[in-house]
Amino acid sequence: MSKLWGGRFSGATDPLMEKFNASIHFDKLMYAADIQGSQAYAKALALTGIITQEESEQLVQGLAQVRKEWEDGTFAIQAGDEDIHTANERRLGEIVGSVAGKLHTGRSRNDQVATDMRLWLREEARALLQHLKELIQVAVERAVSDIDVVMPGYTHLQRAQPIRWSHWIMSYAWGWHADAQRLEQLIERINLLPLGSGALAGNPFNVDREFLAKELGFAGVIPNSLYGVSDRDFVAEFLFWASMTMIHISRFAEDLIIYSSGEFGFVTLADAYSTGSSLMPQKKNPDSLELLRGKSGRVFGQMSGFLMTVKGLPSTYNKDLQEDKEPMFDAVETLGGSLQITSAVLATLKIHPQKMAASLSNDMLATDVAEYLVRKGVPFRETHHIAGAAVRLSEERGVPMSQLTVADYQTLHPSFSDDVASVWNYEQSIENRSSIGGTSKSRVLEQAASLKKWLDL
Ligand SMILES: *[C@@H]1O[C@H](CO)[C@@H](O)[C@H](O)[C@H]1NC(C)=O
Ligand SMILES: *[C@@H]1O[C@H](CO)[C@@H](O)[C@H](O)[C@H]1NC(C)=O
Repeated sequence: MSKLWGGRFSGATDPLMEKFNASIHFDKLMYAADIQGSQAYAKALALTGIITQEESEQLVQGLAQVRKEWEDGTFAIQAGDEDIHTANERRLGEIVGSVAGKLHTGRSRNDQVATDMRLWLREEARALLQHLKELIQVAVERAVSDIDVVMPGYTHLQRAQPIRWSHWIMSYAWGWHADAQRLEQLIERINLLPLGSGALAGNPFNVDREFLAKELGFAGVIPNSLYGVSDRDFVAEFLFWASMTMIHISRFAEDLIIYSSGEFGFVTLADAYSTGSSLMPQKKNPDSLELLRGKSGRVFGQMSGFLMTVKGLPSTYNKDLQEDKEPMFDAVETLGGSLQITSAVLATLKIHPQKMAASLSNDMLATDVAEYLVRKGVPFRETHHIAGAAVRLSEERGVPMSQLTVADYQTLHPSFSDDVASVWNYEQSIENRSSIGGTSKSRVLEQAASLKKWLDL
């Protein structure tokens, strides 16, 4: 009796499995890294004497031609090309003939793919670092040119104390600076060579791995072949970096979404980064910011998905690792777009300093009232209480705190005198926060100068 599933599954190959198994439709993105790794390997093989110098040159030149076909868009992927390595080697064979069969001597797809990924991610991470630095530069320049703009600072999204708008901008610049430092450190860990690890046990032809590292611009050689083919920490770390950076971008976007609402009216997005409503003609929606906030979810998903993939894998290479590429590619693309859009939104953002100033109110200086008494020798725990009573009194009377008389204040504490009037000055309150990291003008400019120096501007 023929089995129900016999027909399709009895053959040596199942077309569905071939498709399920193939990665060429996404890993072709790494064609250049794959060729670069192979060219270095061909040179290293000649140094061992296992292939001749002439054969090595044939391989290197043939690979250059394969690369040119990819660049020109003339490379034709064929049915049997399961992945980028097979595709490149198949085409190399067509160009240089049987010598192509010598390229893979002592090499495995396991060390090859780990090498390709590190080469590819290293270059992409360097490009992302550049985008991140550009964003920090936009933030710093904006902070300097907008230095005199004053706005309410918030905690719990409640108006808290007056701050400089530039202080708010710089708060994000510092987060991105930390992201840039993390990325620089991560690039160092990506930048190590797995090639020459073989499938798992090492290379049998005594290939010179230090030569390979030098040839490919790696800072060092991964010192254990099992580790070399199985390690994907650099992908996980990159996805965490991407997630953390997107958290900063998403929170920045969220602040600006709030500040651009009609109720706040602190900022207006440039037309290029907002969209009208299809129904309500008066609306201008902060689509760019909402996309930034939304895309952060996508990146966190790639990170947690990938961590689930590697958790519980037995030693060295397992086919599960084919699932490492799409999250990495997707995160690179999402971050590239997000960083550039964030820069553009910030560079073109219109601000409304009068609206910001109009949102300041006397009660935001209640802390300054307490500090006024502190300067007269009253302990802070008492002054906090007294300033609270002043807030209550102004609420009961229905007048701003600045409209209470000196006599009113003196009923709360005898140390109040005429000079209490000096408290009602937002600029002064801001300037008084002049310790390192405070919102005073010189301290904010100092922050900007320090990041400018770091950027080498
Ligand atoms: C799956 O793809 C790999 C290359 O990545 C290949 O070596 C293997 O033969 C393929 N397996 C099947 C069942 O198609
Ligand atoms: C700010 O500090 C100066 C002393 O540096 C002080 O005289 C003034 O009262 C302070 N202003 C407020 C609002 O605390």
